[in-house]
Amino acid sequence: MQNTREPNFQAKLAAAGKAVELIESGMNVGLGTGSTASIAIDLIGQKVAREALKIVAVPTSDHTATQALALKIPLTTIEAVGRLDITIDGADQVELKTLSLIKGLGGALVREKIVAFATDKYVIVVDQSKIAEGLGNLVPVPVEIIRFGWSSTCKHLETLGCQLTMRKGADGELYVSDGGNLIADCFFASLSQPVSLEKAINNIAGVVDCGLFLGLNPLVVIGSAGGARVFPGGRL
Ligand code: 5RP
Repeated sequence: MQNTREPNFQAKLAAAGKAVELIESGMNVGLGTGSTASIAIDLIGQKVAREALKIVAVPTSDHTATQALALKIPLTTIEAVGRLDITIDGADQVELKTLSLIKGLGGALVREKIVAFATDKYVIVVDQSKIAEGLGNLVPVPVEIIRFGWSSTCKHLETLGCQLTMRKGADGELYVSDGGNLIADCFFASLSQPVSLEKAINNIAGVVDCGLFLGLNPLVVIGSAGGARVFPGGRL
């Protein structure tokens, strides 16, 4: 179970609880990564056990796969099911007016994006701290890059106008994703043209993908200590 003493725990729980209400028997479910998604996964596990719910799930990280298996949530692959009915995932920043997201501070952005684009109902669970007026004000754009020639890939990324920091793990060494790649956290002074920026980033040799999640039209569930609200309203 999660760290219930974390300051935003109640808000995350409220968002996760509202999202998990959308899961029904027979669904193929995408499972996100991060602390809020992890609360949702715990709740899904409880629902599977309590209601004998028949679902299969695609995890977006090794960590999520381990959690789901411990909860006896059956796992599958996109290849086996074709598409997913619903995915519940967290985000690092949400711009409500465009429903654009920044994701990947948890390091799972590539699998998260593949799962998002294979999903019919994409549900993002966040607390209010993730809601921002403009993209990029609060967090960097994580960019996953392959190891070969990574310093050259970083120089090319910097020509796009960012301050770049290579992500490190708790051991102080370069962070390695589940896919065996590195992550460059890129702070851009302005993210006013995210669509062209995403294209420019992803065009650089050595880049696997970046944490700009655009055009996915998510349902955003914003939790608070008092409950959860859904944005855009009326779409639940
Ligand atoms: C992982 C992610 C997470 O969804 C994102 O970091 C949000 O995590 P949390 O709910 O812990 O704030 O993109 O790659």
